[in-house]
Amino acid sequence: MCLYRCLNTRLEGRAVFLLALVITGAIVFIMTKSYSVNQDPLSLHIKQVLQPLVPLEELTNITFVGRGQDDPALVAYIRKHELFPPSDLPYNLTQPDRKDFSQYRQSTYAEENFLHGMRGGFFLEAGALDGEDKSNSLYFEKYKGWTGLLVEPTPSLFRHLSTLHRKAYSINAAFSLSNVSATATFVEARGLGRIREGTKHGFTIRTFPFYSMLLALGVTQIDFFTLDIEGHEQIVSTRDITSLRALCTNADGVCIRQQT
Ligand SMILES: *[C@@H]1O[C@H](CO)[C@@H](O)[C@H](O)[C@H]1NC(C)=O
Ligand SMILES: *[C@@H]1O[C@H](CO)[C@@H](O)[C@H](O)[C@H]1NC(C)=O
Ligand SMILES: *[C@@H]1O[C@H](CO)[C@@H](O)[C@H](O)[C@H]1NC(C)=O
Repeated sequence: MCLYRCLNTRLEGRAVFLLALVITGAIVFIMTKSYSVNQDPLSLHIKQVLQPLVPLEELTNITFVGRGQDDPALVAYIRKHELFPPSDLPYNLTQPDRKDFSQYRQSTYAEENFLHGMRGGFFLEAGALDGEDKSNSLYFEKYKGWTGLLVEPTPSLFRHLSTLHRKAYSINAAFSLSNVSATATFVEARGLGRIREGTKHGFTIRTFPFYSMLLALGVTQIDFFTLDIEGHEQIVSTRDITSLRALCTNADGVCIRQQT
């Protein structure tokens, strides 16, 4: 009698245990699913930027000049006054159905050879132009859920870029040619712009060390770096970057794999 009943309760106990296990598993599964949906890469990067940074002094668009690349006041100034956050409005593109916006299919090349469908990465595009035409980064942002930083010194191009509602930070400035912040004369010729010394032509732009921009974003991890800065590529030190997977420079028109 007991044998039958005891066996029965033991079996029931095991069934209850298994059922509890299945329910717990289902709850954990649903929670991790919704967690990963909320933790999209864009919000991760935004949190990094929103970390408070208390400057020792407030710099202005006049007094920022001559600051060392890791000066906290300079970093705070860039973060507060120069960086524009990603837009949460729908895209406003001229060619919304296009896949690869780059000039020589650099996006496709970098994707196929180095990035392999990676989602949620971070790019840095220097010489971002109007943000759509010849953009190497837009493919990754639009189709792979990436975000990043768009650097473009020319005011008219930057104004256009701001109307596209890209899901990336943007800054209307250039990389400094040294390790301090400065102003520089920028000369445009046939769509190509570059920093040039000792000329009466051109217009004044703000320049910040590459490293200061990284500090202002709170980002050291750049997966895809695309540089079109007209012969000044050597000013960028990839030493400060971790996890770089691909680097494209328009100087020699190539994209190369980087050690991560
Ligand atoms: C500096 O910013 C002020 C507004 O805060 C603006 O009126 C002025 O034009 C800016 N100057 C330069 C050189 O950008
Ligand atoms: C800038 O670089 C020079 C060497 O080129 C170095 O002597 C100087 O200390 C650096 N300044 C800052 C603020 O990093
Ligand atoms: C979309 O872009 C055009 C310029 O290409 C601009 O005139 C228009 O105001 C933009 N629309 C929005 C909603 O930003």
